[in-house]
Amino acid sequence: MKILVTGGLGYIGSHTCVELLQEGYEVVVLDNLSNSKEEVKEKIKEITGKEVKFYLGDMMDEQLLNNIFTTEKIDAVIDFAAYKAVGESVQKPIEYYMNNVSTVLVLLKVMTKHHVKKLVFSSSATVYGDPEKVPIKETDKTGGTTNPYGTSKLFVEQILKDLYKSDNTWDIAILRYFNPIGAHPSGLIGEEPNGIPANLMPYIAKVASKELECLSIFGNDYPTKDGTGVRDYIHVVDLAKGHIKALEKLEKESQGLYIYNLGTGIGYSVLDIVNAFEKVNHVKVNYKITNRRSGDIAECFADPTKAKDELGWEASLGIEDMCKDAYNFILKNKKD
Ligand code: NAD
Ligand code: UFG
Repeated sequence: MKILVTGGLGYIGSHTCVELLQEGYEVVVLDNLSNSKEEVKEKIKEITGKEVKFYLGDMMDEQLLNNIFTTEKIDAVIDFAAYKAVGESVQKPIEYYMNNVSTVLVLLKVMTKHHVKKLVFSSSATVYGDPEKVPIKETDKTGGTTNPYGTSKLFVEQILKDLYKSDNTWDIAILRYFNPIGAHPSGLIGEEPNGIPANLMPYIAKVASKELECLSIFGNDYPTKDGTGVRDYIHVVDLAKGHIKALEKLEKESQGLYIYNLGTGIGYSVLDIVNAFEKVNHVKVNYKITNRRSGDIAECFADPTKAKDELGWEASLGIEDMCKDAYNFILKNKKD
């Protein structure tokens, strides 16, 4: 089977390419390198001994997409290409809706033209807004997103549901990721945010490696066990494997639109993560408690039962692996 992976040189995309190649899939990547580097292609080869076919270009480019589908005989698409910085999306809503929604419309148009109707889409737990209860099930209410990034994912989910309603020969898996962290154990690929990281784990790793001075913990007055925010952190390799299981489902089932939470089902607080990171990596992480970050919620973790029952997928790596692999990647890629 030949899979087009859009955004395949990015953080989650590159780990998924590794798993796809290791499972024997042929992989074609389209990426505009807006948030990744071409050298990731070589790293994927170093890990797997196999190559992805790479197209440098933008998913808005309908002609390029048509060329790819004509040349490559694609069987299914995994769509990772999007912008993902929550804060930036508030400043740049047009860019976010354009890149996260319009690109999907172009892709769907071209897929329809070429009769390729199997799609795995990267959604996010952010579509649940501030959840009424945890753990969150796929059937729980969505909406109440507080930023254009989150709303863009909600819009695409709706577009995919409308598409399936209009033509039930599509096979669509919407995967709602919780908080992906960590890196490939080789330390060759991982998360490389531009500038100062906005997310917890890359920030912690850079404080530990002395690239940043001190972690700000955004609030310790939430109604959680220690007052800091609780999230469902999932190792990026486990997450990548979830995509293989989703593809297998689309291959063997009769057509349908399926939605899955990809999380571990365990909620860790910010302090849990800091403590685990220090213990596993034998380092000190300086931190201070500051005000809450606007738009943050107290608690968010998945009920991952549906993915286990229907995909036969569950996370196997724990918080220690996540902390160890995240730090290994930062140390291996530290710029002196
Ligand atoms: P990433 O930025 O590392 O990867 C995205 C890749 O897409 C990058 O390589 C970028 O260059 C490419 N890209 C962006 N716009 C493009 C375009 N128009 N044409 C071609 N390539 C384009 O992000 P990631 O963390 O790997 O996230 C992948 C997907 O998962 C995104 O859709 C993101 O919204 C979603 N997601 C991520 C998280 C997370 O915490 N990382 C959580 C939930 C959902
Ligand atoms: N946090 C800090 N200090 C920091 C960074 C984060 O205390 O410097 C705290 C946050 O307040 C939160 C927790 O760490 O309680 C996790 O924050 P992240 O920014 O790492 O992750 P979020 O849960 O805010 O959001 C992430 C992605 C979103 C995605 C969401 C759900 O950034 O894109 O998970 O999947 F939508």
